[in-house]
Amino acid sequence: MNKVIGTAVSRKDGLAKVTGTATYAAEHQIPGLVHGYLVTASIANGQIKSIDTSAAKKASGVIAVFTHENAPKILMPANNFITSKIYEARLPLSDNKIHYAGQIIGLVVADTFERARDAAHLVKVEYATQKPLVDVTKATFEEAPSQFGEESKFEKGDLAAGLASATAKFTATYKTSTELHAPMEPHAIIAHWQDANSLTIYEPSQWVLGTQRTYADLFGLASERVRIVTPFLGGAFGSKAFPWPHGILCAAAAREVQRPLRVVLSRQQMTANAGHRSETEQIIRLGATADGSLTAIAHEAKSYTSSVDVFAEPCTSITPVMYSTPNLQLKQELAVLNIGTPTFMRAPGENPGMWAMESAMDELAWMLKIDPVELRLKNETQEHQRQGKPFSAKHFADCLRVGAEQFGWQDRPKQPRSLTRDGKLIGWGMAAATFPGLQGKASVKVRLLPDSTAHLLTAGNDMGTGTYTVVAMTAAEALGLPVEQVRVELGDSLLPTGGMAGGSQMTATLVPAVMSACQQVLKTANAKTAQEAFATLRQSKGAAFEATASSAPSDEANKWAFQSWGAHFCEVSVDEEIARLRVTRWVSVMDIGQVINSKTAASQVRGAVIMGIGQALMEECLFDPNIGYPVVYDLATYHFPAHADIPRIEVAFVGEPDLNFNPAGARGVGEIGITGVSAAIANAVYHATGKRIRNLPITPDKLI
Ligand code: MOS
Repeated sequence: MNKVIGTAVSRKDGLAKVTGTATYAAEHQIPGLVHGYLVTASIANGQIKSIDTSAAKKASGVIAVFTHENAPKILMPANNFITSKIYEARLPLSDNKIHYAGQIIGLVVADTFERARDAAHLVKVEYATQKPLVDVTKATFEEAPSQFGEESKFEKGDLAAGLASATAKFTATYKTSTELHAPMEPHAIIAHWQDANSLTIYEPSQWVLGTQRTYADLFGLASERVRIVTPFLGGAFGSKAFPWPHGILCAAAAREVQRPLRVVLSRQQMTANAGHRSETEQIIRLGATADGSLTAIAHEAKSYTSSVDVFAEPCTSITPVMYSTPNLQLKQELAVLNIGTPTFMRAPGENPGMWAMESAMDELAWMLKIDPVELRLKNETQEHQRQGKPFSAKHFADCLRVGAEQFGWQDRPKQPRSLTRDGKLIGWGMAAATFPGLQGKASVKVRLLPDSTAHLLTAGNDMGTGTYTVVAMTAAEALGLPVEQVRVELGDSLLPTGGMAGGSQMTATLVPAVMSACQQVLKTANAKTAQEAFATLRQSKGAAFEATASSAPSDEANKWAFQSWGAHFCEVSVDEEIARLRVTRWVSVMDIGQVINSKTAASQVRGAVIMGIGQALMEECLFDPNIGYPVVYDLATYHFPAHADIPRIEVAFVGEPDLNFNPAGARGVGEIGITGVSAAIANAVYHATGKRIRNLPITPDKLI
């Protein structure tokens, strides 16, 4: 049999994307399409006293204007992740209250986009304004509610005793800034009601079936009356899993005007009302013996949410998995601000959590004069200290050793400020990476056709991570076909149930179903390979052999904790005169179980490292403390890395297939790469300059 899994295959969708033939949500051509433009609040806290739409309604081309005074009918969905989920629990236009700047307060529908936008600016609003709270230092923090089935507090052993018995005690506070997902494709939707009870939605969605059920709930329809079409997403990073208020309002307004309606958000609108990562403040306390064994770990995290929904950035999720300690204490606190609801963003929790933990471990290593790689090896845990389960197929130590060797870590000068090159200070740093192995449920249909192609179909989708290619490769191997002879159709709710492209789980979710559907179709065809089946089809003039198979997490999952691991090693250069910091070298080694596509998997890690470099050096969304508006609102004011900021990123994989996890042994790779990146950089900055930066991003002002 030909070996395809594990090889490097270029993206199936690559040509379509670079030639512009991949159709994104807003690009679908629907006859009779009309255009919506959002009216958004110019204050961040208060009420609408009056809203005058008369001029807007009279403007040329305007079809309708919606505000809270004539809000279209929308039903509250179950909103529980299982049956349905919306990003913000307050339905759009539900009353006259303003909770954050940029909140949606109206929608103008017109025959062209420009006329809708023009008329939106003719809507006159009078507000009763209250002073907004957008500053976490002035906010009241309370214990965060339990989230995703986990309490916000956890305690094992006796923290005070653990700290008392330590020879080295370390405490520090680490901060991260509000970050934007900033996908290349803006949030956009076309809602098309074929009749009063049939709705088609073209929207980038990381979770086609969930989005289908959610829109069905919102409008009191049976799921099968709603179709979600989302073959391509131009980046999502957690911001496109559930409907946002603009999508809900677009679908509701489209029903009222009885025309297909498109709403595209501007970058400025996206900043205010389509999610972001909350800023965080974390206190890490460590106790250790002189030889570096951790006697205590305490991790306290603060983040903010909006006044209309609850989302606590789950920073402490990584603490029980990283390092072994008899005494562990976790706590999450949450404040309410006049800022739109924060949400999942690439490695939610793990990313800021690892920033704090991996910075603290580096500081402890310097304090104890222990190699930071050794300190991590010494404290590795073989069980999840919160779930009490052993890790399956864990190769964290190999990540550290292989990474150290590839980077040349053993040659590291042991003092800060001891390496220079071309008049610049050079520093080396490292940090660990981690992300859980998650798997969902999916069904996949395979069809073998007389033209010697295999056709794979599922509603699960590709948010740019490589799902088309991974599905094709898995089928190619199972059927004994070249990848070119496999066609893959994704991202349409008419197709068999797919999983969610979130939590780095799409590969682990789909691959087992693809394997089993391919085995079944060969059985149905009574053939050993697809070629045999094709021959039978041609002889018998049959149309196709078909099979559908499903997969779900196995009972084995209850016995094990599934987690992926990694290590980053990096070099920075610092020009002290102008405080210019550059990342000049990078090595990442990952243990993600079975690698399906070595090319797209390495690309996922590279993309995540680049996003982490952005977080470390540039990305921050700031809010005007007086008016509460984001002062960073587009791709010019929200700084992120360009090619010139990025060095060559070496990526290697270690480990073995995690066969306790699923028959493919693959754990997924979308998010792990960003965890630990900012800590590795801050650790290298300390080595270069002797300055410890605990507040992201590391902008030049912090280095002067
Ligand atoms: Mo990811 S933040 O689960 O899309």
